[in-house]
Amino acid sequence: MRKVLIVLSIAVLLMTVAIAAGTIKIGVAFPMTGNIAAFGEMTLQGVKIAQTLYPDVLGKKIELVVADNRSDKTEAANVVSRLIDYNHVAAIIGEIASSHSLAGGAIAEQKHIPMLSPASTNPLVTQGKHYIFRACFIDPFQGHVAAVFAYKNLKARTAVVFTDVVQDYSVGLSNFFIKDFVAKGGKVFREFYQSGDQDFSAQLTDALAKSPDVLYVPGYYPEIALMARQARQLGYTGPILAGDGAEAPQLIKIGGSAVNGVYYTSHFNASHPFTSVGKQFVAKYESIYKASPSALAALGFDSYLLLRDAIKRANSVDPAKIAEALRNTKNFEGATGYITIDKYGNTIKSAVVNEVKNGKFTYVTTINP
Ligand code: PHE
Repeated sequence: MRKVLIVLSIAVLLMTVAIAAGTIKIGVAFPMTGNIAAFGEMTLQGVKIAQTLYPDVLGKKIELVVADNRSDKTEAANVVSRLIDYNHVAAIIGEIASSHSLAGGAIAEQKHIPMLSPASTNPLVTQGKHYIFRACFIDPFQGHVAAVFAYKNLKARTAVVFTDVVQDYSVGLSNFFIKDFVAKGGKVFREFYQSGDQDFSAQLTDALAKSPDVLYVPGYYPEIALMARQARQLGYTGPILAGDGAEAPQLIKIGGSAVNGVYYTSHFNASHPFTSVGKQFVAKYESIYKASPSALAALGFDSYLLLRDAIKRANSVDPAKIAEALRNTKNFEGATGYITIDKYGNTIKSAVVNEVKNGKFTYVTTINP
């Protein structure tokens, strides 16, 4: 009897080890609660669709360990530490807000675990780092696209730029836009706010006194939605231009008809996919959610596939080898375009401009690098 028990427990032990050895753990560090929870929710949808289609690599199941950074900078660093030290992930998909990727990325870099951000566009996120990568374009380009669109398409000559001073994304994108818009001969005035603010009447009153042709608000959807409502209440009927951080169903839910006429630069529009993988992704997403995928869903999908492809080429789960393989990503066909990661960990891709029209995110144009 004792012998049987020992043999049985050894068998159970071996099975546990085999199962543990049979998975490859990938951490996912997203805002699943808090101010920008919609970003986490949308990106995770895309990651999960990719996992459903391609559940394994190197003959093992990919196991996702999702960690919620609660839309908080300190937590953004904490979750990365936890994923590495406690969950022992081989790599991390994350984070989304640039300020979170800067905080979490510092930890991943120090611990030599590759981290791939689906959506962080601030140049500093990857700068000087060997283990941090991204699946999206960067803000010098996004700011350029916005400046061209404002000047040429909207025929704006005077812009008021609203900067969220606690978001590296917003500070950077504001500056890149201003540089290009001014170089074209445009005139710029500035206003400042913070994530979490609800009342923008003082800044808007000041801004509207300048009779601007456009309000440029490179922030996140909760504040853009409220600002649009208040700007319309103050009688502003002109265009509002934003960046990729505008896109979430909540923009329209909170903003109502006030966000009609909000234009924003982005990575993807489901009605105009750039690749056939993009078309397949849209079809798959629509069959599951009965709605069109967001840019973040597409970027989440691409991030999972990019990482899986790197693990496959590395033929190893050694973090240094995965990082090396990520850096050698060339012409990978994703849902958001053909992705090549350069030696800085960045990608160069086309941007789209979308407009909120009758309560829908509508494609306007594509701008190539
Ligand atoms: N680009 C934003 C940042 O760097 C994140 C983002 C991308 C949000 C795409 C929404 C959609 O903070």
